[in-house]
Amino acid sequence: MRLSVIGAGYVGLTTAACLAQVGHDVFCSDSDVDKLHKLQHGVMPIFEPHLQSIVAHGQEIGRLTFDSTERTIDFGEAIFICVGTPPLGNGDADLSAIEGVARTIAKRAEGYRLIIEKSTVPVQTGAQLRKHVSVHNTNGLEYDVVSNPEFLKEGTSVEDFLHPDRIVVGVDSSRAARLLQEIYQPIIDQTFTCPVHADCPRRPGVHFLVTDTNSAEIIKHASNSFLAMKISFINMVADLCEAAGADIGKVAAGIGLDPRIGSDFLHPGIGFGGFCFPKDLQAFVRIAEKFGCDFALLEEVERINQKRVHRFVEKLKKELWVLRGKKICAWGLAFKPNTDDVRFAPALAVIRQLLAEGASVRAYDPQAMRKAQSELPELTYCHDAYEAAEGADAIVLLTEWEEFRNADWKRLAGLVERPWMIDGRNVLSREDVVGHGFQYVGIGGVSGTPEMTHSFASI
Ligand SMILES: NC(=O)c1ccc[n+]([C@@H]2O[C@H](COP(=O)([O-])OP(=O)(O)OC[C@H]3O[C@@H](n4cnc5c(N)ncnc54)[C@H](O)[C@@H]3O)[C@@H](O)[C@H]2O)c1
Repeated sequence: MRLSVIGAGYVGLTTAACLAQVGHDVFCSDSDVDKLHKLQHGVMPIFEPHLQSIVAHGQEIGRLTFDSTERTIDFGEAIFICVGTPPLGNGDADLSAIEGVARTIAKRAEGYRLIIEKSTVPVQTGAQLRKHVSVHNTNGLEYDVVSNPEFLKEGTSVEDFLHPDRIVVGVDSSRAARLLQEIYQPIIDQTFTCPVHADCPRRPGVHFLVTDTNSAEIIKHASNSFLAMKISFINMVADLCEAAGADIGKVAAGIGLDPRIGSDFLHPGIGFGGFCFPKDLQAFVRIAEKFGCDFALLEEVERINQKRVHRFVEKLKKELWVLRGKKICAWGLAFKPNTDDVRFAPALAVIRQLLAEGASVRAYDPQAMRKAQSELPELTYCHDAYEAAEGADAIVLLTEWEEFRNADWKRLAGLVERPWMIDGRNVLSREDVVGHGFQYVGIGGVSGTPEMTHSFASI
């Protein structure tokens, strides 16, 4: 099919490249001229595993084209809107980019178009879009507006898009449902060349859930809010473990073995961040409020999350006493591993607080330094984890990149001023760290040796 994707960010670029990979002809555009220019010349504006190669492949075989918004709208029978929906000051989602794209489609397109809202939006946005398009419809455009929320995770976006747990579509007409099914059929049947796995664990028959538009919109906000709630829950349990002399690693393993709960998202740390959870949580609370539903539960989830950064810095202060004049080595800047995205990253919030207290920070992240530099130019950015540790009074681990788990502790012990390791993600082996003369501080009273944790986890 001929498809259009508007917005070439983490979601839009993944959507465009994956849809080309599974056999569609795709045009993709972005209002950021520099980004569009880069993509047209084979330069990736973001880091996502496997994305670069499928973008290049799509362009090479002529199935993926980056072009102006006008030509992109003209091209596709279906148009995916993947623009940003950032938070406004009051927590509402800013829908101005979506509104602008819808107006351009209404004024420009002719014939029939399936308008697909893939950005995360509050319930009833689809209904608003329908009205808005009809107001600006100057060419007798026939159209359907549908919701198709995206559940991919940064760091594994290509894998998640091609091997999803479910595809949710909110439609109000059978024509729209049929077109969406046609678009997603190769993914539902898993009939494509997988760019991620050499030996692909395909499971044909991906769940294709058809709902009304309002329900699809709520599914997305409710999913993200539930996951955020799980994280705040385990962080509170971690605090209790720390105070009461229990080990959160073992407690989380014991909780997660219950299949009704599951072990995902039961990792304590410095809290959730990124471009989705914080803003989606706020937007969900705000929209519930507008409909007269008191979602204080989620306000508490947010409040708990906001306190994580302060609590972590207090932990560091407990060990180093005064932060003014201290040299801190920060490992990790991205909001999670395997991405270069630093939007609402807890790591940056921790660093901002350290700087405000008068500490100097030497930082390293495998992918996110370029993006962090524009937000925090005052940091010293280092070439690797070891350069960052030189002369440090403490190392703080803020993003759980794999390379930090495999650090050479012997080498590090020779580089730091004082051997303190404060693990904000509870991912290091305490035994390894302590074995090389470091003091180790984790989250939630983690005290078990790796052997104990491992044997417990494998029960
Ligand atoms: N990032 C994620 O993990 C993720 C996952 C699921 C859903 N979402 C949702 O998807 C949406 C996009 O998120 P993202 O992370 O890809 O954001 P992003 O900021 O990476 O990308 C958005 C892109 O849209 C472009 N844009 C803005 N206005 C435009 C316009 N009028 N015309 C053309 N392009 C325009 C921006 O320049 C930017 O490149 C958001 O609603 C987000 O909540 C994000």
